[in-house]
Amino acid sequence: MARRVVCRAADVPENGLKEVEIEGGLKLLVANAGGEFFGFQATCPHQDVPLCEGVFDGSTLTCHMHLWQWDVRTGAPLGLAEAPLQKYSLAVEGDSLYLAGAATALDVGEIFNGIASATLDELAGLARSETFPPGTVLYRPGDAAEDFFVLDAGRVEFLVGRGERTTPGGFMLKKGEVFGWAALLDGYPARIASARCLEESRLLRINGKAALGVLERDPAAGFIVMRRLAALIARYLASSGAQ
Ligand code: FES
Repeated sequence: MARRVVCRAADVPENGLKEVEIEGGLKLLVANAGGEFFGFQATCPHQDVPLCEGVFDGSTLTCHMHLWQWDVRTGAPLGLAEAPLQKYSLAVEGDSLYLAGAATALDVGEIFNGIASATLDELAGLARSETFPPGTVLYRPGDAAEDFFVLDAGRVEFLVGRGERTTPGGFMLKKGEVFGWAALLDGYPARIASARCLEESRLLRINGKAALGVLERDPAAGFIVMRRLAALIARYLASSGAQ
């Protein structure tokens, strides 16, 4: 994905906030913390309220609606807040800010790469980045299959079956690999395998129904994603029996 201009640095007042919409339709909140710039999702993860209407003291961002707060350097929740903010790395060049950083797991993954930028941005807007310690069981057979995951870093193991009859079903190793894809399929409301982090793992968690809504609005992208998903499922069925 091409590097995208966010805004001019001078457009964001010192210790102030600004909401911007960048090429592709992604909306960001830009915070200027004493001359350092940080980018976040534009709306509150609680109830979709614009965060640019919140209060920012130069280090803590507060949503004015129910007073959830975040550390503006990390997006980590503080106080009452129950969810972190999605953070976007910004680079300053000359007098302008750009969306920076390495390609995201969505950009590089085999399912979503190459689809329209606006659609990818919408999917990225649905993603919650979560980090889990080694040993975390992400789901078990029978759990509701509401979300799917994209591996950003780490290693995840799949186990097929229950109890002592459990057998290894494979591993997710590469950034961008998608698992928990029952959430993207009609008629598969429950997990049929378990997934466990073998090491500290960073994942993007995306609600399946919401992602399907995005793909329905862009049928060309939807067709590509479903075709790749079908190939992925066929590959796993051939190699491991199930996911
Ligand atoms: S809407 Fe932001 S804290 Fe409730």
